[in-house]
Parts: sequence; C-alpha cells; structure tokens
Amino acid sequence: MFAAAQAIAQHKHPQQIARPVLDPDTLAPFVDRLPIPEILQPTGLRPSPTSAGAKIPYYRLGLRAVESKIHRDVRPTRWWSTGPSTPGPTLEVQSGKPVLVEWANELPAAPHFLPVDHHLHGAEADQPGGRAIIHLHGGKVPPESDGYPENWYAPGKSATYFYPNDQDAALLWYHDHTMGMNRLNIFAGLFGLYVVRDAAEAALDLPRGKYEIPLALYDRTFDPEGQLNYPVSPVPDAPWIPEYFGNAVLVNGKLLPYLEVEPRKYRFRVLNAANARIFHLSLSNGGVLHQIGTDQGLLPAPVALKQLMLAPAERADLVVDFSEHAGEEIVLRNDFYRPVMQLRVGRGKAVDDSSLPAALRPVRRISEKEATKTRTLMLGEIDDLRGDTVTMLLDNKPWHAPISEKPVLGSTEIWNLMNVTDDVHPIHIHLVRFQILDRRRFDAFAYQNQGILRYFSDPEPPEAGEAGWKDTVRASPKMITRIIVPFTGYAGRYVWHCHILEHEDNEMMRPYEVVAG
Ligand code: C2O
Ligand code: CU
Ligand code: CU
Repeated sequence: MFAAAQAIAQHKHPQQIARPVLDPDTLAPFVDRLPIPEILQPTGLRPSPTSAGAKIPYYRLGLRAVESKIHRDVRPTRWWSTGPSTPGPTLEVQSGKPVLVEWANELPAAPHFLPVDHHLHGAEADQPGGRAIIHLHGGKVPPESDGYPENWYAPGKSATYFYPNDQDAALLWYHDHTMGMNRLNIFAGLFGLYVVRDAAEAALDLPRGKYEIPLALYDRTFDPEGQLNYPVSPVPDAPWIPEYFGNAVLVNGKLLPYLEVEPRKYRFRVLNAANARIFHLSLSNGGVLHQIGTDQGLLPAPVALKQLMLAPAERADLVVDFSEHAGEEIVLRNDFYRPVMQLRVGRGKAVDDSSLPAALRPVRRISEKEATKTRTLMLGEIDDLRGDTVTMLLDNKPWHAPISEKPVLGSTEIWNLMNVTDDVHPIHIHLVRFQILDRRRFDAFAYQNQGILRYFSDPEPPEAGEAGWKDTVRASPKMITRIIVPFTGYAGRYVWHCHILEHEDNEMMRPYEVVAG
C-alpha cells in the first residue's frame, strides 16, 4: 500500500525537467568499503548554562563546503557538511549528561549551488546565501537550542546550543532546518548522527563497538561529472518540485558500498535521511532483521521482520545474526530488489558474547484517559487546475498563521492526523516523544468537503515495530492516524511538520507552543 501510494505520488506530479544524470547501473558495485562517520571528541569543557560552577563537554562543528567521493570511479562530489564527507561526524553522549555544541557556519556566502525557489516562504531573493541552522531531531532540548527555522544565520556566524540529553538511549540525528531551504541544505549534506547511550541499554549486552554499525540511507541524483543534481520544475522561476526521488541510494556517503562482517551478531542503527523516499529494506538471503528499537529507543521486545519500512526521518535499531552465513555475500536491498549495499560474511568461527534479549525495555502504553485534549488536524494539499500540487498544509493553515497548537506543559494530548491526500506524510513533532494509538480508514472526500466523519474500517493498531516511543509517524493516505503525546520538557515555541522535505519547505510546517501550566 505504501509503495503504491509513493508510486502514485510520483506519477501525478508535474513533469520534471530531464537533465543528463549518472546511472548507478553503469558503475561497478561493491568496490568501496562502507565508511563509518568518525565519533567526534569534545574540544574542551565550558561552564554549564544551568548548574553554576559545573563544566560540561563542549563540541564545535563547522558547516563547510567539502568534496568527497561517492564511488571509486566517480569524481569527487561537492557537498555541504560538518565533516570531511556526509554524514558529518557522529556525536555520542550519555543520557543525563548535558553537552554544548557550537554550530559554526563556515559555508560559502555565494548564492546557493542548488535551485532555490524564491516563491517559498523564507526563501525570498533578498536573503543571504549559505544561511543555515541546525536542529537536533528527536532531542528534548530547550526552545532556544532547538534550531527554530526562522533563526537561521549567515556564514561567519555561529550558535552554541545546549543539549541536556535528559532522555532514553536512542539514535537521534542533527540536520539543517532553514526556512524554505531545508530540502536543499539537507540534500547538500548537512546532517549527521547523534547517539544517546544509557545504563539500561548497556546492561542488555547488545553487539557494540565495531559490531554496532550506523547506516544512514538517502537517495540522490548526480550529473555525469558526479555533482549533485536537484531537479527543477518546468516553471523557470518556480523550480520547487513536490517530492524529490533520486536514482542512487547512498549509505554513509557511498554508492553501493560493501561491509565485511564476521559470522556473528551485529547491531545496525538505520536512519532514513532521504528527502522523500520511503525505504523497504530486506536481505537477499531472506534473512531476518530483528528490530529492537525505533525513533526514540528500545522496543519492549524484538520484532522479527523480513522487510523493514522506513519513512524519512524514521530510525530503526536492528540486530542481524550472520553466524549461520559464514562465507556468504548478502545484499541489502530496497524496492524492486535494487541493491543498496553488500555484506561480506567472513569464514570460520567468530566469538560472540553479545546477546539478543527476549525482553528489551518496558514501554508503558499511555492510556487514552490520560489525554486532556484531542486535536483534529487535517493534512491536505492544494492543487492547481491541472491537478499539480501547489502547496501542502497542516490544518489548512500556512506557516505564518497565528499559532493554534498550544499544549500545556505536563499535559497529554491526542492528535488525530486526518490525511485527506494520496501521499504518506511522515509527521514529526519537535521536543516530544509519542505513541501511535491507531490508524483508521475514513471518507476523506466527505470529511474535507462536507465536514462529515465517516469511517471505512475499524482502527488498526500500530505495527509491532512502531509500538515504542516515536517522534515521527507515517500518516497514511486517506487514514486518520491517532497519536498520544505527553508534552514534557520545556515551555516555548517549537515546530511540527511533515518530514518530506519538499512538503516541509512549502508550508507543511507549523509553529506550536508549549505553554507553562
Ligand atoms: Cu528532523 Cu523538524 O526535523
Ligand atoms: Cu525534530
Ligand atoms: Cu508531506
């Protein structure tokens, strides 16, 4: 259903201008080793902004234009990154131990090298080139450190953010969030991983060290010279396209890489860092992916999957056991059996003292009775007379409309995401973690046009791999997706949005405000 919806979405939208592109099928597969982003060390200690006298680790990352190779036989590609290639360096922190991160904008001040659409809110022609701002996706952080989209800053400026890390072990990620430019800045490479560790996770003896491998997946298009090629619409001064899909899937910055593994258990921390693509991942030998965690940390128990679906910004924590596969070459593949990367299992016996526990971490299901407010929020789009998408809206409101979602700090709310479109919209709320209650088919036409609520099916519970703490949820087409959200942490202004970056940049993002109780 989701793959079909994505195909429909690709089909109904306007013709994109065809330019010559690099065809990954013409390249030798599996010739580059999978890179693992470096784990960044703090550059020193700085005074804590919250506890007088205390010093906490301080990191500095410069946002820069860099060149790195996606494949042995392709010339270096120009990227924007916080490190020598994409993704940038990984930050690894302990739950409860705060850090300071300075994000220094050292990008070129020249006009952007990708097609900016000056019609989009925030992307007007008089704004400086190279502006950026970094958000920690999934981070429970104070509002002034959240990377509010309008608070971007120009090259030469920097911002130091306070990350309390007062949250469970999970794979988070940092990425650009500049108003109206987000899809281009992330496409250019401005993102990286952020791992939160805690004692409960450590006690599980999951595969660790060199047996724990991050996999950041994202699709791109390159021109024959190996440079990033972001397609444009046929309208010359309005180049925005409704969704970006590329023909080349990168893993940690490489096209069709390989990874040598020992015949034992591995833990893979998977991130979908794509602009719009939903991945459906499987192993060529039919092997089982044991999903142990989701966006905001461990599931109550492992879930055995043959295929993993991951929408933009979602994360999955997996354990894969290669012990029965010594000497095999296994391919991780996406839709239509397209290869993504190769796993080369070594011969012989490996020592493996890691475990895949049957019970991971209890996740208390939040009762609907705990919610003091229910919001009904429509996910819609406006099409022009030809049926081409013009803009997408949350609750029928553009970005600059007055703030309408004002949850009280400490309260719990249910949000009914009424998706009347044909697309899956991965909806993300900053600051908080939430649980999925259910999804239910409804008469979207009657709802949108007559305000009548008619259900077409019974509610479906979340999939087993979604039944933990989430920060991004697939709002399925023509369905009501209900989530329950405890608003804890901080009062202040944040945002919620669709994580298809082309939608987010074109009004499918709203500010919201947590108000003190
Ligand atoms: Cu991945 Cu608003 O964020
Ligand atoms: Cu976020
Ligand atoms: Cu969307």
